[in-house]
Amino acid sequence: MIMKKRDLFDFDTVLERRGTASLKWEKYKEQDIIPLWVADMDFRSPPVVIRALQQRVEDGVFGYTITPDALNASVMKMLRTQYAWNVKPEWLVWLPGLVTGLNVACRAVGEDGDDVITAVPIYPPFLSAPEYSRRNIIKVSLHEDNNQWQFDFDRLEESITAATKLFLLCSPQNPVGRVLTIEELTTLAAICQQYDIVICSDEIHCDLILDRQKYHVPIATLNPDAAARTITLMSPSKTFNLPGLSCAFAVIPEKNLRRSFKNAMAGIVPRVNAAGYTAAQTAFEEGADWHAALLDYLRGNLAAVEQAIHQMPGLSMAPVEATYLAWIDMRATGVKNPAAFFENAGVGLQDGIEFDAPGFVRLNFGCPRSLLEKALDRMITAVAKIR
Ligand SMILES: Cc1ncc(COP(=O)(O)O)c(C=O)c1O
Repeated sequence: MIMKKRDLFDFDTVLERRGTASLKWEKYKEQDIIPLWVADMDFRSPPVVIRALQQRVEDGVFGYTITPDALNASVMKMLRTQYAWNVKPEWLVWLPGLVTGLNVACRAVGEDGDDVITAVPIYPPFLSAPEYSRRNIIKVSLHEDNNQWQFDFDRLEESITAATKLFLLCSPQNPVGRVLTIEELTTLAAICQQYDIVICSDEIHCDLILDRQKYHVPIATLNPDAAARTITLMSPSKTFNLPGLSCAFAVIPEKNLRRSFKNAMAGIVPRVNAAGYTAAQTAFEEGADWHAALLDYLRGNLAAVEQAIHQMPGLSMAPVEATYLAWIDMRATGVKNPAAFFENAGVGLQDGIEFDAPGFVRLNFGCPRSLLEKALDRMITAVAKIR
């Protein structure tokens, strides 16, 4: 048998993360609850990244660090090869996180009291960022049609007010796992052009496409107008499992928008740390084999989740096209508090209420298959007892 390079990576070992100050695992410390909630994966980062960090630590000097030119070059190369997107180095603004980027975008665009629009259900910081920035939030619901989550473009347009200055887009979408098509993105961009709305597009999950028929298109690459009105947020943190190293970036081609964004950051947003830069550069330059192996592993995990959901009467989910997150509809079971229900069964999921969708739960399947199967078995047993 020929061993593929990708078979060399280990995603099966169950790591002991209790007692490591892990946000995900400390939530249930000393409880027999398998945490499948916050979006980090229970895998070690790519070996090349670990080696690069070891070498960086060996240097032993951790002074203030600026963005390495080589990192800007590797990001530009990645955007050019993956998305045919030719980005200039000055368009890149480095950040300690995407959530920081969402909040800075809300402060950088418009004035206090303006409206920010987004589609729900949505990753919770989209809901808090406008409020933290003294803006109002307008929420437009996605709807499920033909077992697929869709935008309601008419409703979106009707909901736009004269004070709507910013659209917060999540593409691919967390939690519903959609990869938005060129047609959908084109319609969204056209609406934003018509009403002169800036787009902040969180594309953190863009390299986690599980459906082989789908591909990610950055909304800023559609046409020059979309490029000029978009702040694109990206990071290696989800793809290469580096969220604790706090390294992300914005791509802002239009200079006035970029200036407003940088002004809103000034004096508040810290530099990216030295380890984050090292990890990001190595991941982008040398992480491809690990990334391909990860996607295969996640596809296997997704199949296990789908199979288990079929065995749970009253539970359903639309196909997950991207992300390692399953968005599960529990409403037909009549269970009032689904997250508490599964915690009682020994599985920690994220409550749909946080995403503006009561009756749903979000399950993170980025973990060793054996751990996932154990959690799914617990869920099947619990659901079988619902009367
Ligand atoms: C859509 C989305 N944006 C942002 C983040 C978090 O980004 P960061 O850790 O860089 O702030 C997540 C993490 O789950 C996410 O799913």
